[in-house]
Amino acid sequence: IDWKEIEKNIENGRFPQWLVTDPEIYELEKERIFGRTWQFLAHESELKEPGSFVTRMMVDDPIILVKNKNGEINAFLNSCSHRGVRLCTEDYGNKKAFSCPYHGWTYNLNGELIGVVAGNKVFGESMDKSEWGLRPVPRVESYQGMIFGNLDPDAMSLEDYLGEMKWYFDIMLGRSDGGMEVRGVPQRWVAKANWKMTSENFAADPYHVQTTHRSAVELKLTPSDPLYASYGHQVVLSNGHGINVITSATGRSNNIYQGMPESMWPMFEKNLNKEQLDIFSRVQNFVGGVFPNLSFLSSCSGTEGTKYNHLQFRVWRPLGPDQVEIWVWYMIDKALPEDYKEKSYKGFIATFGAAGTLEQDDTENWARIVEASQGLMARDRNLSYNNMLNYLMGLDNLDPDENFPGPGKAYPTCYTDHIARSMHKYWLELITKEPEVKSHE
Ligand code: FES
Ligand code: FE
Repeated sequence: IDWKEIEKNIENGRFPQWLVTDPEIYELEKERIFGRTWQFLAHESELKEPGSFVTRMMVDDPIILVKNKNGEINAFLNSCSHRGVRLCTEDYGNKKAFSCPYHGWTYNLNGELIGVVAGNKVFGESMDKSEWGLRPVPRVESYQGMIFGNLDPDAMSLEDYLGEMKWYFDIMLGRSDGGMEVRGVPQRWVAKANWKMTSENFAADPYHVQTTHRSAVELKLTPSDPLYASYGHQVVLSNGHGINVITSATGRSNNIYQGMPESMWPMFEKNLNKEQLDIFSRVQNFVGGVFPNLSFLSSCSGTEGTKYNHLQFRVWRPLGPDQVEIWVWYMIDKALPEDYKEKSYKGFIATFGAAGTLEQDDTENWARIVEASQGLMARDRNLSYNNMLNYLMGLDNLDPDENFPGPGKAYPTCYTDHIARSMHKYWLELITKEPEVKSHE
């Protein structure tokens, strides 16, 4: 693989098409990108009581997250240390202990092996149970209630990794007393798509909205102005993260604080600083991503006069180079009245649930990308002619807006490929970094 040549192209806003679904690249991505970066696992509100657990995936590793008796959240590989059986098969629930279906070994909420069927009689006195607990995820840290895991014990801290994104997370997740809560359970389904393309769609691509979501325009849910999703700023953040702060053409939103009830405003004004309030009062939608595969959308949906805010987080879990499992969490401010939460949740299900109107539009195009990227022509590695995908938007005709009040490099339109190019550069940095050979004493 000629990485130097690839780098040159990425710098110039071109992404070689063969990289999209190539199986060799996919194997490298699993090891060097997903093996090193922070991956979203759960929101703290999903684990309420001691014994509450959820099961999640870090690409191919099944994970159990469980709250112990002291209220701490532990994360383990969901695999019995006897013969490796996947220990817990439920999505969520509450347990005092986890029992293996194969030979009945039992683990407590701290992952310690506490029960062995027929114990000493068959294993003898010498087997030390404390050596045979569940394997913890090497790093688990959280920010604003968002719990992430990292398989690399030497990774930078979650806070350093999120970097400038923390400021925007504070607006979306930290604006209300009591924080946010997940409503329902995460919806999930499988789609034909490559994880890079789905991540990019949320983090970096408001340009698709006018065409892909044309039906919303025809239904008069969104304006017919072809620039309508471009107004606002596309903000490039550290480590391949990015956020689009979308407003209307006037630079403001039609709904102050995303249409949240006025009773909430004093709370926002107490919890956010002046610059954060300025952005939050003007934004229509926040849409963006944490590299590699966590996306979010905070929007105000519904018809005029009955707009409800909602916040969704999604993980694009790769199942292969041409398949993703989509996980979507719906979150809402705990402090909102129940009636508002319910209406907002219904609006979310109708638009972004597995059968939601807007969801269908995107998945169709993601499938077509992989369908057209797997043949001999699209997978030609010879970069001497133009077999690239085009990421030229805004490359040399756009300067950052120095007056934007938030951190990051803010470009004065959301129709630009700045975040996408920054994602490609970080992708390249990670994928070309050889793993360190560690000696195990
Ligand atoms: Fe779990 Fe044997 S595999 S007890
Ligand atoms: Fe879309």
